[in-house]
Amino acid sequence: MTTTFKTTLITAALCALAGTAAAQTVLKIGYATSKESHYGVGSTVFCDEMEKGTQGRYKCQQFPASALGGEREQIEAVQLGTQDLTNTSTGPLGNFVPETRIVDIPFLFRDYAHARHTMDGPIGQDLLKKLQGKGLIGLAWTENGFRHMTNSKRAIMTASDASGLKLRTMENKVHMEGYKTFGLLPTPMPFPELFTALQQGTVDGQENPIPVILASKFSQVQKHLSLTGHVYSPAVILLSPAVWAKLSEADKKAFVDAAQKGGAAQRKKVNDDEANGIAQLKKDGMQVIEKVDGESFRKAVAPAYANFAKEFGADKIAAIQAVK
Ligand code: PAF
Repeated sequence: MTTTFKTTLITAALCALAGTAAAQTVLKIGYATSKESHYGVGSTVFCDEMEKGTQGRYKCQQFPASALGGEREQIEAVQLGTQDLTNTSTGPLGNFVPETRIVDIPFLFRDYAHARHTMDGPIGQDLLKKLQGKGLIGLAWTENGFRHMTNSKRAIMTASDASGLKLRTMENKVHMEGYKTFGLLPTPMPFPELFTALQQGTVDGQENPIPVILASKFSQVQKHLSLTGHVYSPAVILLSPAVWAKLSEADKKAFVDAAQKGGAAQRKKVNDDEANGIAQLKKDGMQVIEKVDGESFRKAVAPAYANFAKEFGADKIAAIQAVK
C-alpha cells in the first residue's frame, strides 16, 4: 500500500467516524420508578426500538427512579424542551391538558381490556392528539395500571372503612374529588416525597398499582393492601416539540412505532406484576384484602358523576363506558 493510499484510507475512516459521532443525538428520558419496573421495561423497549428504527442516529439516556424530579416537573420540562422525553402517568397531565382528566374518573373502566381498547381506539387517539396543542407530543399510551389502596391503619373492605384516612394522592383534581366521596382525606404530594411521608406517618396511606407498590417497596412502610382497583392509571411517552420539529417524517414514524412497542411491553409487565406481585407482597408481610366490596365504592362515587358530566360532557363519559 502506498503512503498516499494509506493516508486516504485513514482520512476516509476518520471522516466516517466523525460523521457518525456528529449524527448521533442522545435524548434524556425520565420516569418515576426503577429500571426493572413496568416504566423501566417500557422505556427500555422504546429506547432500543427507537435507536434501531433511526439506524442509531438517536439513542436514549435513561433517568429512572424520579432522578429528573416528580412527574409534574418532568412534564413541564418536556414542554419547555429542557428534558427530551418522559414516560409518565396521566396523574398530573390534566394540569397541562385538562381534557385528559376524563380518563382519571374513578370506576370509569371495567377492566384492563376495556381500558386498553379505549386508549388504543379513537377516543384515546384523539386525546393523544390534543397534547400537541399544549406543547407536548404524545408518542403512544403506555400504562401504570389499576390503582389499589394501601395504609398503615386498618383493612379496607368497604368505602366506610376508608373513611377518615389521610391518603396521599397524585396532583389530580378528578381523583381528589372522587376519593372525597369515599370519606378519604386526600393529600396531594409529588411521588418522590411519598416513601418518607409514609414512613414518618405524615399520611396514613397511598394508592398505586401493584407494579408501583412492588417497585417502591411500600410493604416496608404499609401493612394493609386492599385490591380496590378504584381507578385506571394510563401512562404516556411524551416527547418535547423541540425534538419532534427536527425529525424527518421517517424518523417521526420510527419514534411512534417504538413508543407503541414500548407501551405493549409495559402493559405486559403490568400483567406479570398483577399475576405474581400479590403473592410477593403477602410474603413481604402485607395483609391483603382481595375481596373488596366494590359496590360500596361505586355507590359512594355515583353523585360525583354529575360534576364529571358537567366538566367533560355526559355523552363523552357514556362513549367511554360503551367501549367494548
Ligand atoms: O402515584 C404516582 O404519582 C404515580 O402512580 C407514579 C408512581 C409516579 C407512577 O406514574
